[in-house]
Amino acid sequence: TFVVTENCIKCKYTDCVDVCPVDCFHEGPNFLVIDPDECIDCTLCEPECPAHAIYSEDELPEGQEQFIQLNAELSKIWPSISEVKEALPDADEWNGKPDKLQYLER
Ligand code: SF4
Ligand code: F3S
Repeated sequence: TFVVTENCIKCKYTDCVDVCPVDCFHEGPNFLVIDPDECIDCTLCEPECPAHAIYSEDELPEGQEQFIQLNAELSKIWPSISEVKEALPDADEWNGKPDKLQYLER
């Protein structure tokens, strides 16, 4: 399973959803998640993210482990997204900023 991690928060570029063959991305106000029950590990989304926020759950950077649970939980609540839309207005400014989990909107 692939996991969307912290650097997606406040960026939400959505390039990832364009390539997913099983449409398993789900959208919240300022973050996207992957439904772990639907992801087929095709790896296509990982290189598409301008924020480098997508990882295999086996290769998560240190400190990002909690995003496994967040993707599982929020993908059951948030609606599916399969078409690219505009990134959030200040996406480029927030790309790479640390400690963005505190800004996650549900
Ligand atoms: Fe979709 Fe493939 Fe990414 Fe899983 S690895 S979320 S199936 S694009
Ligand atoms: Fe987020 Fe990257 Fe997709 S910023 S919306 S995981 S392209």
